[in-house]
Amino acid sequence: MEIIERIKDMQAYSQDLRVEGKVIALVPTMGYLHEGHLSLMREGRKRGDVLVASVFINPTQFSPNEDLDKYPRNFERDRDMMEEVGVDVVFHPRANDVYPEGYQTFVTVDDVSKNLCGLTRPTHFRGVATVVAKLFNCVLPHIAIFGRKDYQQVKVIERMVRDLNMDVGIIGMPIVREPDGLAMSSRNEYLNPKERKAALSLYKAILIVRELFENGERRIGALTDRAIGVIMTEDLARIEYVKLAHPENIDELVGVVWDRALLALADYIGETRLIDTPVLGEEFENC
Ligand code: PAJ
Repeated sequence: MEIIERIKDMQAYSQDLRVEGKVIALVPTMGYLHEGHLSLMREGRKRGDVLVASVFINPTQFSPNEDLDKYPRNFERDRDMMEEVGVDVVFHPRANDVYPEGYQTFVTVDDVSKNLCGLTRPTHFRGVATVVAKLFNCVLPHIAIFGRKDYQQVKVIERMVRDLNMDVGIIGMPIVREPDGLAMSSRNEYLNPKERKAALSLYKAILIVRELFENGERRIGALTDRAIGVIMTEDLARIEYVKLAHPENIDELVGVVWDRALLALADYIGETRLIDTPVLGEEFENC
């Protein structure tokens, strides 16, 4: 496994691979890897001749009051895990090479960025779209793999790729959960044992809403109220939003749901912000 830090070296490496006709698969990450990330890498391993994983904690997707400074990191551990799943190249650029002094160009994807996380984190998706566009320009992948744990993020990237005519296939992979159902996240690391228990309220809410939905409940108010009720029983939980959204354009749904709907939950458990984004009306394994 190679580790490449310089942008020029990454581009030269990928250009050579392209000349050789190799299919390049990219898995972008911010490190502190877990089984969710590894599931994307395994998929990339299957689909590409060469698997590149990037590890870069992207400052532009954090707002000043967020957790950029304390975001967990352990590059050595990440490196061993990536080696184990068969990553060929780790792209590990430095922040001041990615954003040198005077940097001023950003990618904004308008409508799909607005609702859900876009309401409370207004510059977040601009940072995500910008860094992903830059990673694509550095790694020159044919395909890039993202997790549906961050469902809105996948839609933002898909829209960006379409709108800017980027020749990269985007693949969205199912949410990987802990055995008790909590969606895996690098931020779960912040939770103390009490909070870890309380965090399960998101999954409990999902199971109950899913059951209602499967039994024919289609009124949005009835579905979201139920989720809110379950989460509110947990003292340590503070709801940021519980919404049903259109699974393609991320608009908030009103009235009744038809066949598919994104159930989007964002909660603080203590100081830690967690999200979960299954799609109602799809196979559970896919969520
Ligand atoms: P990060 O949070 O490190 O996640 C990297 C990728 O892993 C994302 O595509 C994310 O959706 C996926 N992922 C995380 N937890 C998952 C889970 N439990 N199941 C399935 N996939 C999961 O998302 C980012 O980094 C950044 O925004 C990034 C795209 C790298 C841009 O900076």
